Amino acid sequence: MNQNKLKEAVGWAAIDFIKPNIIVGIGTGSTVDYFIEALSSIKHRIKGVVSSSAKSTHKLKKFGMNIIDLNDINSLPFYIDSADEIDSARCMIKGGGAALTQEKIIASAADKFICIIDSSKKVSTLGKFPLPIEVIPMARNFVIRELEKIGGNPRYRHKIVTENGNIILDVHNLIISDPVSLERSINCIPGVVTVGIFASRKADIVLISNDNGVETIIT
Ligand code: 5RP
Repeated sequence: MNQNKLKEAVGWAAIDFIKPNIIVGIGTGSTVDYFIEALSSIKHRIKGVVSSSAKSTHKLKKFGMNIIDLNDINSLPFYIDSADEIDSARCMIKGGGAALTQEKIIASAADKFICIIDSSKKVSTLGKFPLPIEVIPMARNFVIRELEKIGGNPRYRHKIVTENGNIILDVHNLIISDPVSLERSINCIPGVVTVGIFASRKADIVLISNDNGVETIIT
């Protein structure tokens, strides 16, 4: 099966977790786009959705979904999103689509994070996928120097301004053997808004599609 078919299969499989009358947090990306399509088929059964990006909001609106502001709710049972990489402890790299800050906020506000991936996203150690970091524009060169001190090779993602008006640095050559501690230390660099390591708030449930079907890992 090609990768798009695997993304579609896992996007539709996530529907089984959606109970009636709930609000669902929605991530960003091509896998999530398939989940949005699947969700639209049961849209009358749910209360609405909280979106993590303009791209997802656009698609959700196209399907006539009820978009709810995170500030208007007190709890969120599920957040559904994909990842760029995930390890066996369910820690992830996210941010390929530059929506990592909103994604981390909604994921953290949710009771359960369901990560939907095709099997190509599974890794033994995070870091082969360049680590995205959202940074305040004036701090760019300072943050680059700080990241070089920890052994990374940060590259400025040209022509990308995040929805929060910031820039993205993609850090190459990192071997992330301790995601919790690296997430914490990069978060402490002044000017860093969000680091794309999702380790403090990792996935609770992982759905993985491969040629044989969709495997579910529940903690
Ligand atoms: C966006 C993300 C996405 O989850 C990640 O990039 C995976 O995307 P795709 O489903 O297109 O492979 O973190 O910021």
